[in-house]
Amino acid sequence: MAVIGKLYSSIVVVTMNYKNKINGITVAWITRVSINPKLIAISIGKSRFSHELLMNSRYFGICILSNKQKQIAELFGTYSGGNYDKFKDVEFSFSEKNLPVIKDSLAFIECEIVNKYDAGDHTLFIGKVISEKLFRNDKPLIFGEHKILEVKNDV
Ligand SMILES: Cc1cc2nc3c(=O)[nH]c(=O)nc-3n(C[C@H](O)[C@H](O)[C@H](O)COP(=O)(O)O)c2cc1C
Repeated sequence: MAVIGKLYSSIVVVTMNYKNKINGITVAWITRVSINPKLIAISIGKSRFSHELLMNSRYFGICILSNKQKQIAELFGTYSGGNYDKFKDVEFSFSEKNLPVIKDSLAFIECEIVNKYDAGDHTLFIGKVISEKLFRNDKPLIFGEHKILEVKNDV
């Protein structure tokens, strides 16, 4: 078992809307990095279609996935928005900044991109939280041991 697999993290779908082209990408490399101001960092591979959109965007959304949304994590983490509309069969609404909010997510956070840092084959996008909504209090999906794990409801 590789050591790196012991680093567990949340699984979210980061959503974006650049000139009315919407997309979402499953992201496990996400963490809070500042309390005041409230900042969140996401790490996005430079080869991803989402990277191109985010480099040109002012905002991104974070849909925190519940333990019942493994299929959503797989869908947004397998296909590329460059040649496939991942939202085609997914129910969603739009946030204040016109970012897709995936139905049945645990929570949604809207961020304004305030910094970008080069990080090898990824870019770190730093988002300042501008709004946050908790929809339900279920357990999340997490990434650990190199796989998607569903946290049991009684944990
Ligand atoms: C559980 C899981 C976690 C992932 N975490 C990340 C991540 O943190 N950063 C990243 O760039 N890609 C991550 N990926 C891969 C992207 O989600 C995947 O390459 C996606 O298809 C890219 O979509 P896009 O081309 O529309 O941007 C992850 C995939 C899965 C299944």
